[in-house]
Amino acid sequence: MQVIPTTRLIGELSFAGDKSLSHRLVLISLLNKGEIEITNLSDCEDVQRSLHAVKQLGVSVSQNEHSVLLKNRGISARQGHYEIDCGNSGTTARLLTGILAGQPGFYRLVGDESLSRRPMQRIIEPLVAMNANISARDTLPIEIAGSRSLRAINFHNVTGSAQVRSAVILAALQAFGETGIAEPCPGRDHTERMLTRLNLPLRVDNEGVTIKGPAALTGNYHFAVPGDISSAAFFAVAASIVEGSELTLKNVLLNSSRTGFIRVLQRMGASISTHAGTSTWEPYGDVHIKSARLNATSIAADEVPSLIDELPVLAVAMAFAPGKSRVSGARELRHKETDRIRDLISQLRLVGVDCQQFDDGFEINGPTAINRVISLDSCNDHRLAMSFAVMALNSSQGLNIKNTDCINISFPDFFATLHRCAQQKN
Ligand code: S3P
Repeated sequence: MQVIPTTRLIGELSFAGDKSLSHRLVLISLLNKGEIEITNLSDCEDVQRSLHAVKQLGVSVSQNEHSVLLKNRGISARQGHYEIDCGNSGTTARLLTGILAGQPGFYRLVGDESLSRRPMQRIIEPLVAMNANISARDTLPIEIAGSRSLRAINFHNVTGSAQVRSAVILAALQAFGETGIAEPCPGRDHTERMLTRLNLPLRVDNEGVTIKGPAALTGNYHFAVPGDISSAAFFAVAASIVEGSELTLKNVLLNSSRTGFIRVLQRMGASISTHAGTSTWEPYGDVHIKSARLNATSIAADEVPSLIDELPVLAVAMAFAPGKSRVSGARELRHKETDRIRDLISQLRLVGVDCQQFDDGFEINGPTAINRVISLDSCNDHRLAMSFAVMALNSSQGLNIKNTDCINISFPDFFATLHRCAQQKN
C-alpha cells in the first residue's frame, strides 16, 4: 500500500475501546455467573478471538449498536474437549490459560504462525506450580486439563509481563489460599483494576499483588471502555512530527501504566497535554497535540513497561529528531508479534535512518530526510505497519508499505481515521 505524505493533521478523533481492557472484560465473563455489558468494546481481530473463545465455552454473546452483552449461566454444564484458536492474540492465549487452568474440561489452545513462536513457558511455569495440569513445550499448542485443586503460590514475575501477572491472578481466583505476586517494574494494571471494580478479594501494595482464593464472581455489571491509547499513540506521534498539525484525541485511556509514550514525547519537546475526565474504574480523558520540533532522548528499563507497545512509533519520532536517541532494557520487544527490535531496525535502515540494534534495544541518530519512495515490510506486525505509515506522512513522496492487512489485529479503522484528519499535499 502506498501511503502518501500529508500537509498537516487537523481535527478531533475518537477511538474504539482499548484492546487490553476489552480482552479482560470479555475473558472475565468465563468466571462470572451473571451478565456483563460492555460499551465501546474494541472491534479489532484480537478481541474477536477472545469473544469467539468465550462463546465456544458457553457464554452467550449478544450485540447491538452500542454494546455487547455477555451472559454466563455458570460453568457446571461445560465438559468435553475444546480446541480454541487464539489467532495472533497473545493476550487471549495467556489470560485464557490462566482461567481454564481452574475450569472443568479439556482444552487445546492453538494460534497462528506468529503466536505459535511466542514464549509460553513464562505462564506454564507458575501455573504448573499452582497444580495446573498443562502440557506444552515453550510454545502453542497448550493442552490444559482443568483442575479443581489449584493452590496458591508466591510468584516473582521476572519477565515483568502483565499478561503473565494476569494469567496468575486469574488462576489465583480459583486457587485455595493467598497468592502473592511481586515483580521488578510492574506494567499495566488493568486486571487488578477490573477485579477491584468487581469487588473481588485482591490487594495491591508496595510488595505487589495479593489474591485470596477461591473467590466467586456473580452479578450483573456494566463497563464503558475508554478509547485505545495505543491506537491513539500513532496519531500523537504523527501530529507531533507533521508541521502545522493540531489534533485532539477524545476520551482515551489515561492510565499512567500505559502513557509512558506521552511522557517521552514531552521530554522530546512535543506539545502534548492531557485533560482528564472523571475516572470510574480506569482513568481516561482527552489528549491535545500540536506539532513541535523534537529532540533526541533516551528510554531506560524502568520506563519500558509503560510504553512497550509504543516503542516502534517512538522510534519513528526519534528518526526525525536531531541527535542520538537510545532505548535500553527492552529485550521483551524481541518476543512480540515479530522480533520488533530486529525488524524495526532492518526496515528503518532501508529508508536511510542511521540506527543500530542491541540485544536489549536500539539507537537512532536523527534527523532523517526521506526523499525516495521505498518499500518497507511490516513483517505482518500491526504496530510496525502503522509506525511505517506514520513515517510516510512526514516523507517527501510517501512510502510503499507491504503487508498492511495485519493492521486489523488491533486497529481496523486506522486508515479511515487517518483520512478523517489528514490534509493531503497536492
Ligand atoms: C498486554 C501486555 C503487553 C503488551 C500486549 C498487551 C496485555 O505484553 O505488549 O500488547 O494486554 O496485558 P506483556 O504483558 O507480555 O508485556
